[in-house]
Amino acid sequence: MSERKRILTGIRPTGALHLGHYAGALENWVRLQHEYEAYFLIADYQVSDYADDIQRVRDAVWEVALDWLAVGLDPETSSYVIESLVPEHAELSTLLGWFLPVSMLERNPTLKAEMAAMEEPEDGSQERKSVPVAFYTYPVMQVANILMPRAHLVPVGEDQLPHIELTRETARRFNRRFKDVFPEPEALVGRVPRLVGTDGNAKMSKSRGNTIDLKDSAETVTKKVKAMYAGPPRGATEPGKAEENPVFLYLDAFDPETALVAQMKEEYETAGIPNKVLKDRLTLVLNELLDPFRERRAHYEANMKLVREALEHGTKRGRAIARETMEMVRDALDLNYLEKY
Ligand code: TRP
Repeated sequence: MSERKRILTGIRPTGALHLGHYAGALENWVRLQHEYEAYFLIADYQVSDYADDIQRVRDAVWEVALDWLAVGLDPETSSYVIESLVPEHAELSTLLGWFLPVSMLERNPTLKAEMAAMEEPEDGSQERKSVPVAFYTYPVMQVANILMPRAHLVPVGEDQLPHIELTRETARRFNRRFKDVFPEPEALVGRVPRLVGTDGNAKMSKSRGNTIDLKDSAETVTKKVKAMYAGPPRGATEPGKAEENPVFLYLDAFDPETALVAQMKEEYETAGIPNKVLKDRLTLVLNELLDPFRERRAHYEANMKLVREALEHGTKRGRAIARETMEMVRDALDLNYLEKY
């Protein structure tokens, strides 16, 4: 058995991953994958499209796997796990539901915000939409995901912190009441907890259409950066405030030459720099970051069998550890009813 501590983290398969995912979480996954025994979960049970558009979920599973391979998550040493192919998650989630007070879900800020967004009427309608039970309880499923491999570390985006707190609480209650089965996992948030969108909105997200995707071509990135919001209008050589210009936030996040960025900021605030110059720099920096991803992606897209193998092998390893944990859980809860007589 491996001595390394374990990572469990995951993503809902809803489509292409973007720079916000990368700087907020994925970068940590890549950095830590060899220090830990890592399980990367594609959480298809937790997609609200499940009932509406299963085809979209199905496609997105492959999209996510390709993005992971592209950024360099090594499927030989880490496990890519498809959640619903490890149905033990559903079983553990049911059992763990007994350790989580409803009040903790009711005041979970991430869940509350997502449910409010989900209930928003469609354009031109008055009717609030309903939230499926499975969506309301997805954080419990997420607790099961994390506890399943008895993970120690959960590298995630900032919005996931309330869910990790639920997980810690569940582990504490279970261990205290029954047997010490689960480590209390720590959360780890990425270098850039929240990346602004290309439109200047506080958060990059697919639903707002303000993303730069990891699989975008160099041409697309050039176009998106050109169209990017760059702070309040300003003459090309008028000074501006760097912190009001999202282009600088991106340079802060992605330009490895920090001294150069500092110098550009200073010049921007005193003499002024045309936005075009900043945007050209950003385009260069982003394409340098994304080029190796594009190359790896192209390799796997031409060999989808390798992607399937990554999913197949990872899911198999995920299932093996799930069986081991379920055995410990059933033993701790003394669920062996038939052994009575
Ligand atoms: N809820 C997470 C998100 O929306 C995805 C997720 C599912 C997850 N299961 C997980 C993240 C377990 C970390 C650990 O991004």
